[in-house]
Amino acid sequence: MKEQLEALLQEALAELSQASTEEGLQELRVKYLGKKGAITGVMKGLGALSPEERPLVGQVVNTVKAKLEETLDARGAEIRAAVKAQRLAAEKIDVTLPGRKSPLGSKHPITLVTEEICSIFAALGFAVAEGPEIELDFYNFEALNLPKDHPARDMQDTFYFGESVLLRTHTSPVQIRTMLKQPPPVRIIAPGTVYRCDSDATHSPMFHQIEGLMVDKGITFADLKGILTLFISQLFGKDIGVRLRPSFFPFTEPSAEVDIACVICRGKGCRVCKETGWLEILGSGMVDPEVYRHVGYDSEQYTGFAFGMGIERIAMLKYGIADMRLLFENDLRFLKQF
Ligand code: DAH
Repeated sequence: MKEQLEALLQEALAELSQASTEEGLQELRVKYLGKKGAITGVMKGLGALSPEERPLVGQVVNTVKAKLEETLDARGAEIRAAVKAQRLAAEKIDVTLPGRKSPLGSKHPITLVTEEICSIFAALGFAVAEGPEIELDFYNFEALNLPKDHPARDMQDTFYFGESVLLRTHTSPVQIRTMLKQPPPVRIIAPGTVYRCDSDATHSPMFHQIEGLMVDKGITFADLKGILTLFISQLFGKDIGVRLRPSFFPFTEPSAEVDIACVICRGKGCRVCKETGWLEILGSGMVDPEVYRHVGYDSEQYTGFAFGMGIERIAMLKYGIADMRLLFENDLRFLKQF
């Protein structure tokens, strides 16, 4: 019986060393140590032995069982360690590899210039105001002293939705909306998108403007000149030449266009300034009393000035962009330069 047990043990150990999964081990455990297992079978024969032999063989049985269990546990630990090592190898991440960069965007030159202009005026106490791009005739024209059949309406080729609804042709209607909402004093800057039915190398049907308005007691043309000159020197540099030229706008009287010395030729004359040495960058003037009448301001008590400028043109001059279409094509090779 002793030999039989030894043989079983050797057989079991040989099979164990072949097992490579936990399920396989469990099967072996049942095969040898289970209720109907081989060793249990041998133990059942103990009763047939003589009283002297029984304890001796019993001891052998116990040793064999213990050895088998110990080996089963050890093999189980080995298998679990191997499975874990395999999983770790499969999931290994090389943290020394370079990461995948997500490309970083940059601000569009129109946004850059708009933000710069707004921050210059913010430092002078101007608040940012906004208005709708789909506008009523009243705000875009009528209240700005451009009655129906006024010839100046032809200067702005308007997109109409109907008789009195249109795409705003300038940011000036924000002046009217602001004054109707609040009493003086007013100090606002209004950036925004505007539309005109016009398209070629220097005109886009959609473009951007910034409007400014300052109304209070005792505001004079000297304030207009002082603030606009200061603004230009901050945007284009201290030494840039500035001149005011008499002009006409229905909503201002008197009106002036503001020129800066050509940023390309510094005033000598070139193709960009059409040999004049000067570049027009904004329209301005003292708010016409007729405008105050439309918004209910007392033009005997209050005076003020307004101005408006095209952002595309200023961006082109500031960054030396020759073709306006570059600002709308969204070519990354162009945009990445800002
Ligand atoms: N709205 C004018 C335009 O689109 C620009 C302008 C000129 C605005 C003079 C003003 C101003 O406020 O006073 O051409």
